[in-house]
Amino acid sequence: MRIIDLRSDTVTLPTQAMRDAMYNAELGDDVYGEDPTINRLQEMAAERMGKEAALFVPSGTMGNLVSLLTHCGRGDEAIMGSESHTFYYEGGGSSALGGIHVHTVPNLPNGMMEPEQVELAIRGQNIHFPRTRLLCLENTHNRCGGAVLNLQQMATLTSIAHQNGFPVHLDGARIFNAATALGIQAREIAAQADSVQFCFSKGLAAPVGSAICSSKAFIQEAVRVRKMLGGGMRQAGVLAAAAIVALEQMVERLAEDHSNARILAEGMMNLKQVHVDLQSVQSNMVMFTLANRNLVQQRVLAQLAAEGLRVSSMDTLHLRAVTHYGINSEDIALALEIMNRVLG
Ligand SMILES: Cc1ncc(COP(=O)(O)O)c(C=O)c1O
Repeated sequence: MRIIDLRSDTVTLPTQAMRDAMYNAELGDDVYGEDPTINRLQEMAAERMGKEAALFVPSGTMGNLVSLLTHCGRGDEAIMGSESHTFYYEGGGSSALGGIHVHTVPNLPNGMMEPEQVELAIRGQNIHFPRTRLLCLENTHNRCGGAVLNLQQMATLTSIAHQNGFPVHLDGARIFNAATALGIQAREIAAQADSVQFCFSKGLAAPVGSAICSSKAFIQEAVRVRKMLGGGMRQAGVLAAAAIVALEQMVERLAEDHSNARILAEGMMNLKQVHVDLQSVQSNMVMFTLANRNLVQQRVLAQLAAEGLRVSSMDTLHLRAVTHYGINSEDIALALEIMNRVLG
């Protein structure tokens, strides 16, 4: 049976071109800075983000953690959205491993935070308070259903941080999805942040890895932090080779995922048992709820899976379907047929 896996864009498998590039990659010891493929990828990543330098890390979680630990010391405070991936899904790493005090501000359904709330979260000079050292943004926004922040929204929040003398880190795990949705270059979004982390291993379909991009001085310190966390890898060019192909060949096609998500959401509007807000579908994710609260979510997931469709549960209310490389328009039609059988 064909399984249509819409749980996440992290389920993507590497392309043949990636496998070939991995096999043929020129390698060296990256802890000595001597892996030519890693060095090339880092130059490309920095150039794509319009930053001075970049650092390859094994995951998006480590990309965010290294960035936070580079920006903040123990007891410093980082402001971030209450629904942000860093707050919600990264094991509390910044506090467990870095002693960073997290101050959450509610995320609005569109992924934004109220500027006034961000301002209110900033600490004044007072011996009772931790020091506010960082603002974290996320674009596209995972738990807000792939919502896209536009440049104006980002600039509003960034300027609050900068006016108050502290930097901005962007969790741009899916920054190329945001750029595709906005019809702009990723570097225009990255320009709104002092450091940015983006992933090769989601919609871009590489098997492993993320990049942190920022100033030379920041990346120099981040190299030390990555080593401390055990993220210094040796002949990691085998991984970077696939990530290079991801940057060169997989960015343009993200528009196809967005259009498939739209078609899926439009089809889901006809399902009696499903609530989906078309306006909220801005990139490659469709967040939806079950109209009848008596339907048991886990049972619905199991029924869909039995028919060959996998979607994920975000919490007790929200379900999510994500389009990605490997999912075509016929799969979307089939997914809708299955949903119709189970939830029509
Ligand atoms: C917005 C966002 N940031 C960070 C991550 C973490 O990436 P990884 O799973 O590579 O650690 C994810 C993963 O889904 C994500 O969606």
